[in-house]
Amino acid sequence: MTEAAVHTEPQTLEVALKVWRYDSRTGERELVRYEVEAPDWVTLLDVLDIIKDRVDGTLAYRKSCRMMICGSCGMRMDGAAVLACRTRMKEIVEAGHVPVISAMGNLPIVKDLVVDMEPFWSKVRAMKPWLQSGYEEPPEHEWRASQEQMNVIHKEALCIMCGCCVSECNSMESDPEFLGPAALAKGMRFVGDPRERNQVERLNAYNEEHGIWDCTRCYFCNERCPKGVDPRDAIAKLGAESIKHGIDHDMGAKHAKWFVTSAKTTGWLRETELVPKTQGVVSAIKQTKFAMGLLRHGKVPLPFPPHVAEEVDEARALYNVVKQQGRDGALGHVQGERALARIDHPDDAGAHGGQGYRDSPDITPGEPPVQRDIGEDPHGQQTR
Ligand code: SF4
Ligand code: SF4
Ligand code: FES
Repeated sequence: MTEAAVHTEPQTLEVALKVWRYDSRTGERELVRYEVEAPDWVTLLDVLDIIKDRVDGTLAYRKSCRMMICGSCGMRMDGAAVLACRTRMKEIVEAGHVPVISAMGNLPIVKDLVVDMEPFWSKVRAMKPWLQSGYEEPPEHEWRASQEQMNVIHKEALCIMCGCCVSECNSMESDPEFLGPAALAKGMRFVGDPRERNQVERLNAYNEEHGIWDCTRCYFCNERCPKGVDPRDAIAKLGAESIKHGIDHDMGAKHAKWFVTSAKTTGWLRETELVPKTQGVVSAIKQTKFAMGLLRHGKVPLPFPPHVAEEVDEARALYNVVKQQGRDGALGHVQGERALARIDHPDDAGAHGGQGYRDSPDITPGEPPVQRDIGEDPHGQQTR
């Protein structure tokens, strides 16, 4: 065998998949098993292409860029949303696993792995996803925003509109009207833009029913987002910005405010005051019977004298630091600093796909990514 042949003959894998087929005309569903031979560098999307080319041309799925940019190939693998073109199969096959592939959740299925994205886009449109600039003419022919100002929306700007977060959103499952993680992340992208003039108008709209406070904080959207957008963080930033601008009529906002007040004054969460402070006195009175039951079972601490933590000064000092630094809106969002660390240490996060790209949620700043010699990876040579 010549040296050239060593480099051109890829190793192969026997890949098995089970795919949930769906026919929307009849409503029939069927779990179909496929087995194909494929080069060892294949992604899930490559395997679907091979199945469609060689085994069953009727299999339906979406794709376009093949390189984690267009957001077309969202689907579920073993019940969790993935980008098919980002999902390498080698380790899965070598572990002897046969993954189950299905359409994304929370969106109507059109056929097999193709979902109707219209509910997704209608919510994005509702966010008015365009800049409403606060200037007539750019000063000095150019509007300059500092890096510090743009860092606030760095993660939100990475979104490729794939819908993986929406697929896994618990709140959307129980309330399909909920605006959802992708749309709200898009909203934060404009609320946080230093050139935007309608922050307050936007925040008022996002605080309505089915808005930011309907998020259950399950964090599945952060977990499944393939681009490191961390939509739950964006929603938290919208909440912080709303409170900063005095938009606090929703119970969720009142709840969050009371947490801060309680921690600052006593170092604890004063649960007995949580309901009246969040839901109002009338609602609290209606729940008296329930509260008495909890009291009888020793589940409610007596409100007087207020229990003050020994180290309460530390909680107060922390509160004062946040205030002094002016970090009481989106800037105070701690998890957002993961993104800033990525900006500060871009070399630590690699430069290309798979596990090692800069905006990958798998990258912890300071940890070197898995290095791959892309010169030997024939994936980039494919023509489809
Ligand atoms: S954290 Fe909120 S927006 Fe994200 S998946 Fe959970 S409920 Fe949905
Ligand atoms: S936030 Fe992430 S998962 Fe959601 S649509 Fe954007 S890129 Fe996809
Ligand atoms: S095909 Fe474009 S993101 Fe996968």
